[in-house]
Amino acid sequence: MEATERMRRLAVAAADLVAPGMTVGLGTGSTASAVIRELGKRTAEGFDFTGVPTSPETEELAHTLGIPLITLEEVDRVDLGIDGADEIDPVLNAIKGLGGALLREKLVALACERFVLVASDEKRVARLGSRTPLPVQVVTFGWRQTAKRLAALDIAPERRPSRDDPAQPWLTETGDSILDCRTGPIADAPLLAATIKGITGVVDHGLFLDLATEALLVDRDGKILQLARPRERSATA
Ligand code: A5P
Repeated sequence: MEATERMRRLAVAAADLVAPGMTVGLGTGSTASAVIRELGKRTAEGFDFTGVPTSPETEELAHTLGIPLITLEEVDRVDLGIDGADEIDPVLNAIKGLGGALLREKLVALACERFVLVASDEKRVARLGSRTPLPVQVVTFGWRQTAKRLAALDIAPERRPSRDDPAQPWLTETGDSILDCRTGPIADAPLLAATIKGITGVVDHGLFLDLATEALLVDRDGKILQLARPRERSATA
């Protein structure tokens, strides 16, 4: 089945999870954007919910579609979060952040009662790090020193270049840099997450562990698979 039709089916299934009156974390990236556009259609037909955007791009898209928005600072908790992923493992741990919005995405995910990953099922992996690099957000001041400390973990950090001008670094909305790390299949994700987070200069990383409660995946034939996390999540990131 064509990619656009698969994405449309996934977006409809994800939008169906949103009940009237909910506060909904709106993710970033192409898959989350498809869900936001579907929710925008429903808003235009009178469906009422409020979005919490995870990036300026998402904020702009939702605003254009007329979706009412609220910031994370203005809410106590978020009923449901819907966001894409770059890799998803069998217990719904994920790598996120190839779109560069990992910090806001993680802050919103942590506030969600239910956090649902939406993706095509090609993004499932036996072990995180098998296919995509792990993005690590670092403060730009002294980034080379921070990169050296990450390199000592044998994960080959590379500073992400700007999409518009590859000679320039890609900077987050807060002026941080992203170091994409080639971890290879990660044997112990909680240990790597804690080790990276403990390095001075690191703001956060794209390992989303114990955060997703569910995943909605679309297979090559357009069939939607709904997976639930096999165990209770803990309060850690
Ligand atoms: C944005 O920072 C990312 O975490 C995205 O959610 C992730 O990269 C998935 O993006 P796509 O849906 O565009 O593949």
